[in-house]
Amino acid sequence: MQIDALDLNDLGIFERRFPHPAFDALRGRAPVWWHPPSELSPDGEGYWVVVDHAHTLEVSRDPGTYSSESGGDREGGGTLIEDLRRGVAVGTAINMTDGATHRRLRGLISRAFTPQAIGELESDLRARARSILDSVGEAGECDFVLAVARELPLQVIADMLGVPQQDRHELFDWAMATLRPADAQTDMQARMRAAGALHAYGQSLIEEKRRKPDGSMLSTVIHARQDTESGESEAMSGPELASFFSLLWSAGSDTTWNAIAGSLLALIDRPDAAEELRGDASLWSSAVEEFLRYVSPVTYNRRTVTRATRLAGERLEPGDKVTIWYPSANRDVEVFRQPDRLDLSRKPNPHLAFNIGEYVCVGANLARRELRAMLQEVLSRWTDFELTGPVRYARSNKHGGIESVPIRFRRIAD
Ligand code: HEM
Repeated sequence: MQIDALDLNDLGIFERRFPHPAFDALRGRAPVWWHPPSELSPDGEGYWVVVDHAHTLEVSRDPGTYSSESGGDREGGGTLIEDLRRGVAVGTAINMTDGATHRRLRGLISRAFTPQAIGELESDLRARARSILDSVGEAGECDFVLAVARELPLQVIADMLGVPQQDRHELFDWAMATLRPADAQTDMQARMRAAGALHAYGQSLIEEKRRKPDGSMLSTVIHARQDTESGESEAMSGPELASFFSLLWSAGSDTTWNAIAGSLLALIDRPDAAEELRGDASLWSSAVEEFLRYVSPVTYNRRTVTRATRLAGERLEPGDKVTIWYPSANRDVEVFRQPDRLDLSRKPNPHLAFNIGEYVCVGANLARRELRAMLQEVLSRWTDFELTGPVRYARSNKHGGIESVPIRFRRIAD
């Protein structure tokens, strides 16, 4: 693999699934690599690429040095390679805030994500998973992404946010258009329109629930108050709530559906693993963690350096962009034996699919339950999976989007 020719801004590379061989080569060469600017680079800048497990941990555990908001004399920042303007998610969306603001938002959101609240969803998840599979009909063929994988997370997040189920597909289309990274093929006008539509939908729903609280998690978050570090009690501001709505809609749906679809693809490659799971229920806890490691649905996140520092011997300056690549850290042979192998009983499994530290995924336990419920239902009803056409991946270096998995299968009861 020619590392010097590698351009991670070339979204076409990711359209053919995550380029593991390139990242294997990078890890062999340098755990922290300077990606030079290319014609395709957002903002025309280079950035650091962190590819091994140890340095991904080091960056994630030190938000004072590696900010999710901004650093140096940058105007904007955020967690995408491309700088976002302050006020557009940066400084308002929980994952793009720092320090006291982040702690306050996290405190408010955590009220809605208690283990009890997530536990209460369990029976509902099973019922939903079954009815999604029932609706596939008798054909024994479907596009697994459209018919199955994306449905459970979408239905669940719609309920959590109090979005009427009939609106979920339209919101989903807006979220997907918003998440599309910028390149020559991206229609920026369409992206802005979609982001605006999602934001406006969120704002009007928030207004409605402000006037008429209901049992939804969104309503809980709107009406929650949190003590600030100066001793006052504050609720989320209007812009923070609207950003929360947009973030949760995408964070709660596309990541989990990729985990479900990616797991099925892994099982199509390894039918013996599907048999193992059917034969030994005690494997499920470790299997779910292994699917998350193996699939790693989120590709990267960015930080910005706030003070001069060293990382893996490299000197980093304030304002430098630093990217951490979870699928690569999760295949680091220093931490995972035979990392390219799906090992359903892998233990320990310190994967970083949900990141770690102060920004660790709020929805991790919900995602684990959704993944487990859907895969268990699929494996108990369907078998002999076969691909009937090409798998399509998203043109994105940010989300490991699996867009289409056409399959044929046999019903076990047949
Ligand atoms: C398999 C599914 C999922 C994966 C792989 C995943 C991954 C991640 C990762 C890597 C982060 C860290 C972001 C950073 O460090 O900048 C994160 C944060 C977050 N996730 Fe997830 N996520 C998943 C599902 C969910 C779900 C279902 C929800 C909510 C319903 C959710 C809500 C969030 C939120 C709100 C944050 C921001 C946390 C913070 O900034 O403190 N995620 N997720």
